[in-house]
Amino acid sequence: MEKILVIGSSGQIGSELVLALRKIHGDENVFATDIKYPPEEVGRSGPFQILDVLDFQNLLHFVVRYKITQVYNLAAVLSGNAEKIPLQAWDINMKALMNTLEAARQSDAKKLFWPSSIAVFGPTTPRHETPQLTVMEPNTVYGISKVAGERWGEYYNKRYGVDFRSVRYPGLISYKTEPGGGTTDYAVEIFFDAIKKGSYESFLSEDTALPMMFMDDAIANTIELMQHDGNKLSLRSSYNIAGISFTPKQLAEEIKKHIPEFSISYNPDFRQAIADSWPASIDESVAQKDWGVKTEFNLQKMTKVMLEKIKEQLKV
Ligand code: SER
Repeated sequence: MEKILVIGSSGQIGSELVLALRKIHGDENVFATDIKYPPEEVGRSGPFQILDVLDFQNLLHFVVRYKITQVYNLAAVLSGNAEKIPLQAWDINMKALMNTLEAARQSDAKKLFWPSSIAVFGPTTPRHETPQLTVMEPNTVYGISKVAGERWGEYYNKRYGVDFRSVRYPGLISYKTEPGGGTTDYAVEIFFDAIKKGSYESFLSEDTALPMMFMDDAIANTIELMQHDGNKLSLRSSYNIAGISFTPKQLAEEIKKHIPEFSISYNPDFRQAIADSWPASIDESVAQKDWGVKTEFNLQKMTKVMLEKIKEQLKV
């Protein structure tokens, strides 16, 4: 029986992943942890504890005490926020990863998921259909920490047998928990503002195409990768996954089909330069071949569900 530790369970990915994992493995076998309190559903449905992944001794103690076999480490400072505190962000992102890699090496928690990102790519990377293996010269702190993290994950796999698995998430779109401080956050904010205010001011320009993925697809793919036969995985760094690529203008057009009076304006900030350095679309053929990555939600379906669910949530 698996005993699973989710680090960062109060965040955008963690708050949904915990619930999905509890359905598969049983509520009591999925331990949610974070440095902040979780959404109500996460706290109610199974164990939650405050745990700081930067405290190695505490982390190791937790993993041994609860006989953890799998860890999902989702703790990170996202791209926009990291540019405001470069050294701290580097410290937090790298230390969080290194602590879980070391805990895996020193315990039975050998299986480790850690998210990488499209941020590993930079201005010298081919922007369209970005291949799995290509130039990686990111110019953001977040991107540098993700490339370094991928290298360390692969190293711990080859050197110490840690079962490290990772995907390079596109921008993630969800309604339950909002992201914080990322460059792709506009694609979540826009839905909340469309419903609350009928308008949105985008911090990215209208034609900035970026790869995105609806959270249900991100969770399904993450779990699929973790359940897949490890011998079939040719990569122990991180897999490209494509999702769907669109611009703020295309997303606004899609929202207008549901809310005809919706209007969008553009006021790019410092995150425009980050977005301009990232791919517009991704080639995921290696992930397709190795473990069968899938995207069920296109722009139309995702927009419809986002609007319905946020309305339900806000009771409007
Ligand atoms: N969505 C993240 C960000 O914008 C990228 O991984 O920072």
